[in-house]
Order: sequence, then C-alpha cells, then structure tokens
Amino acid sequence: MKWCAVICLLFALVACDDLPYAEPCNEQTCQLPDCRCSSTVIPGGLEARDTPQFVLVTFDDNINHVNIETYRDILYNRRNSDNCPSGFTFYINHEYNNYVFVNELYNQGFEIALHSITHQEPMSYWEEASVETMTREFGDQILQMSHFANIPYDSIDGMRIPFLQLGGNSSYQMMAENGLLYDHTWLTITNIEPAIWPYTLEHASTQDCVIEPCPTASIPGVWVLPMLTWRDLNDIPCPMVDNCPTAPDLTDEEGWFQFIVSNFERQYLGNRAPFGFYIHAWYLSVNPAVERALDRFLDLINNLNDAFLVNSRDVIEWVQNPVPVNEYRQQPCNTFVPTTCAAQSCGPIQAEHKEDYDYWLQGCAPCPRVYPWLNNPLGV
Ligand SMILES: *[C@@H]1O[C@H](CO)[C@@H](O)[C@H](O)[C@H]1NC(C)=O
Ligand SMILES: [Zn+2]
Repeated sequence: MKWCAVICLLFALVACDDLPYAEPCNEQTCQLPDCRCSSTVIPGGLEARDTPQFVLVTFDDNINHVNIETYRDILYNRRNSDNCPSGFTFYINHEYNNYVFVNELYNQGFEIALHSITHQEPMSYWEEASVETMTREFGDQILQMSHFANIPYDSIDGMRIPFLQLGGNSSYQMMAENGLLYDHTWLTITNIEPAIWPYTLEHASTQDCVIEPCPTASIPGVWVLPMLTWRDLNDIPCPMVDNCPTAPDLTDEEGWFQFIVSNFERQYLGNRAPFGFYIHAWYLSVNPAVERALDRFLDLINNLNDAFLVNSRDVIEWVQNPVPVNEYRQQPCNTFVPTTCAAQSCGPIQAEHKEDYDYWLQGCAPCPRVYPWLNNPLGV
C-alpha cells in the first residue's frame, strides 16, 4: 500500500513533466473563438461564395538595402477593394538584419514576425530543438526585434521556423509560454483541395506531417496557419514559390502571372482557405520578370471585391470571429500604433559567437556592446 503510493507519486511527478497527449478533436466542445478542429470546413459554416479570400504574401529572412527596394516598389501604398491598406508579413531572422528598415515596414502597417535569431544549419538543429532552445531563438527574438526596430512588443504575434523544419511539440509549447498567437511553418501537400483552414492545437491535428516531427501534445491557445503548397508546371508540390522544380522561364512575365493565378484559383474557386505566396525577396530582386508578374497579381487582388491582401495575423482574427464577405467589407480598417526610429549605425561590433569577426548593425536603439546573439539578444 505504502509502496504503491510512493510509486504513484513518482509516476505523477514524471507525468507532470510531459504535456498531455492530444486527443481527437470534438466539434461539440472545441469551438471558436479559442478552439478550432483541423478541418477543411469554412469557419462559421459559411458558403465559399460568402467567404473572403485572404491572400498572404510573405517574405522570409533578413531585411537589407537590396530587398527593401523591392518592397518599396511593389508593396507600399496598396489598398484592397474595401479601401483598407493591403497587408504583407515578414518572417525575419536577426543576422545582418537592418532594423531601421524593419521600423519602416512596421510603419507601413505590415506585420513583423519571427524567423529566429541564428537561422543556423543543419536542419537537425531545429528538428531536435528543446523548448529551451526554441525560447532562446524565438521568445528572446520578440524582445530583440521590438528593441532594435522600436516597435511594440505586443505587435509580434507570429513565427516561421527556418527551413520549414518542425520541432515536434517544443516550438508550440514555447509559443504558449511566450504569448505568440500563430505559427506559419507547417506545410501541407495533401490538404490543399479542399484546403485545410487554420486551427488550434488543443486537439490532435489531422494535417499531413511532411517535415517531421509534428506536434502530438495538446497545446491550447496556439494556432497553426498551414502553408498550402503550390503545384508546379509538372504538378509537383512546392512550399515556397522560389523552390518549385518546374516553373515558367524566369524571363517570362506572362507565364509567371498565369502560374500565380492558376495556383490562386485552386483556393479562390475552392473552399477559399487563405492562399499563400511565400517567397524569399532575393528571388524577386534577381528576376525582374517575376517581380512584375507579382506586381500584376497584387493589382488583380486589389481589384477583386472578395479577395484581400492581409497580414497573416488578420486571418487568425477573422477565423476566430468569421463574418461573411459583405460584412467584412464594412468593418473598420486595422490600426496600429505608429513609432519613430532614431536611426543608429553601429559598427564595427565584435561578435562573441564568431572569432575575429565584426558586424555592422543599423537599428533604432543605442548601439549594443557586442553583436546580439543567442543568449544575449540585446548584445549587452
Ligand atoms: C509531444 O508530446 C506528446 C505528449 O506528451 C508525446 O507523446 C510526444 O512524444 C511528444 N513529441 C515529441 C517529438 O517530443
Ligand atoms: Zn529562412
């Protein structure tokens, strides 16, 4: 009896450390705004024709003086057909990032999101990362980004893990602990037609697990914004527009425009799950025809009454409180708190993680003592 109690107690202590296992989702108990089962059902039980088609154009990696030109050229001063400013989301990693430009993007009303401090290789680093590692890479990056770009801490809601490499439960657990709303890393190949809508991780996900390990624990309050893969010209899936094996010729603007539109139509003429154009900006900078094709596609969306270029977090907010497109068009536009930047050009700054290596850092905060890095995100 006594021994049993001791063993039970030990078992309870061990079990406490583990997160509860996610059970199959129950539509009766899992309800909006805070819970949604993974499914292809349109939120709010809407018909596709009444559903706003959200378009997520997202850019990965650091912001620099080359890609900011692309962003200024094709993204600034756009309005959707409801006359609200268009949104775009940037998944930014720290190394060589220019925080003065991040401040500028934020003040355009765009969304600033996380893509880790180190963005290091190999992929197995992310695959095996503990909650602690994820916290140093992303949790600390919230503080780093808000400090050097001088943007509100609360304006950072989302993340994408480098190389789209999931790390099982650990990144999602870190999100719950750090108040992050959504992750936009988990790609789907099979759930694109009809497509899976964003969902929470309180219950087991039914999404295909392409880059293992996927989470299996129950983690309430955290949203998965699935990355819907495209199909290339040979029907091969590709998560990022710049890694489709067979794409139109890089000088063929019309071909690229058609390529984008045909992938868009899979969602627009389907169940209207958020369509993604996911790309690294360098691809546009070196391929002007692709940039022009994207520019034309953005014009097309801006002229559709039922499609909207939005920040990624806006999709989660809509899913939490879904309304038909005619009602959505009447809603007030999103607002944000504008900030200023007292630009500092810092350098050379010594790196502590690399021997004999100096960095320069452009930011909106006083110059750091050393180059900010893992375990010292502010470089104090
Ligand atoms: C995630 O958590 C569940 C529940 O505690 C556990 O069974 C599973 O092994 C964990 N996955 C990983 C990759 O650690
Ligand atoms: Zn990246």
